[in-house]
Amino acid sequence: MTARAQIGVTGLAVMGRNLARNFARHGYTVAVHNRSYAKTESLIADAGHEGDFVASESMADFVASLERPRKVVVMVKAGAATDAVIDELVPLLEEGDIVVDAGNAHFPDTIRREEALRAKGLHFVGTGVSGGEEGALNGPSIMPGGTRESYASLGPILEDISAKVDGTPCCTYVGPDGAGHFVKMVHNGIEYADMQLIAEAYDLLKQGLGASAAEIGQIFADWNTGDLESFLIEITADVLQHVDAATGSAFVDIVLDQAEQKGTGRWTVQNGLDLGVPITGIAEATFARALSGSVPQRAAGRAALPADAGTWEITDRDAFIEDVRLALYASKVVAYSQGFDQIAAASAEYGWDVDRGAMARIWRGGCIIRARFLNRITEAYERDAELPLLLADEYFTGAVANGLAAWRRVVAQAALNGVPAPAFSSSLAYYDGVRAERLPAALIQAQRDFFGAHTYRRTDREGTFHTEWSGDRAEQEA
Ligand code: 6PG
Repeated sequence: MTARAQIGVTGLAVMGRNLARNFARHGYTVAVHNRSYAKTESLIADAGHEGDFVASESMADFVASLERPRKVVVMVKAGAATDAVIDELVPLLEEGDIVVDAGNAHFPDTIRREEALRAKGLHFVGTGVSGGEEGALNGPSIMPGGTRESYASLGPILEDISAKVDGTPCCTYVGPDGAGHFVKMVHNGIEYADMQLIAEAYDLLKQGLGASAAEIGQIFADWNTGDLESFLIEITADVLQHVDAATGSAFVDIVLDQAEQKGTGRWTVQNGLDLGVPITGIAEATFARALSGSVPQRAAGRAALPADAGTWEITDRDAFIEDVRLALYASKVVAYSQGFDQIAAASAEYGWDVDRGAMARIWRGGCIIRARFLNRITEAYERDAELPLLLADEYFTGAVANGLAAWRRVVAQAALNGVPAPAFSSSLAYYDGVRAERLPAALIQAQRDFFGAHTYRRTDREGTFHTEWSGDRAEQEA
């Protein structure tokens, strides 16, 4: 076996297969391998003409077909399958070789695997890849972690196959060990928030205007020509205008209303809790999926709970549509601002030094949350790389202030009319919370001190104090 392939892909389900084709189409000689050889054969039969593939039946031949330092992309289901492939691969590799996990691994697993492979003299690169099947084939957004040394030889290849926006690749070095998979996880959390906000906007338009799915699809298509332009708005317009062939109904009306998830949103929320970062938009989106799937609770609620809401009458249709658009934009800014806060907190906690502006830049194309809006985020971090709050960047402050009255009207209307809008309303509550001069957290501290002597700090002097609540109420310095 001549070692002539520049990169290898093992795991040829649709994502791996499309990544392999993408490498080949960019002129790389690609070693391919799959647990069952039939998938490898089918790739060669269908796409062999697209480039130079080296197919191997055994893992040993696959490894032997790679030039050194070997670069092996593992594209299997996250979890035990990844460990199984790594265990099979590692004894065949030599010092300096690079194993790339391109699946949606949980970042603590990536930290563990990176440490184990480093001890054997190997590089382990946990990389986020976003854009679904289509992106994998035609240009995804790629978020690689690991050592800088591995990026020196691997990075140019990944940049080559990534999406490009204005000629700039949607791929850059993210940071050590788990940083790439962490950033991908937050990407997915933001994806959940974005999808939930769009779904709430759709529901408000449906309930407020009594509009059909196709009409609302047209509204989204119009929005996609402005500030909200994004992949998710674009596909929403498309989905809403799709008609079910079997019934002739709007497709969205025949889909069961129980949203599922594979788990990256849940991980994002769990990590937000661990780090104490209020990622309320992502959390509301994740819990809204959970509520939709709470079948017995929903049946009981439907049967027992009154709405006590009036009939929603909208007199100015266009003004209402514009209000919902502005509320969607403002809520979206909050969700992203929170997600970038989480990246900053994790970067400090795990010692990653992630450049948030660069993350916004590589999310402009290829990935599921790609949007015109991300240019504005990149610019905000160019103005101030250490920006403590994205919302407080001059551009976003202005953009949100412009829609603030509309945002308040929409959240109030939703509440008055009994339409659930958890992400819209909690984003507004976050906005009001983060800008508040004083928060009722002072009362919580007082309560904690009352029942548990948990102490408090004062506004007027340094130190930690406790009041003798059950005695003479004298204050002591703790
Ligand atoms: C992407 C997507 C993708 C993800 C699905 C799953 O960036 O290409 O985020 O990686 O697997 O969107 O999301 P669910 O948790 O909703 O299944």
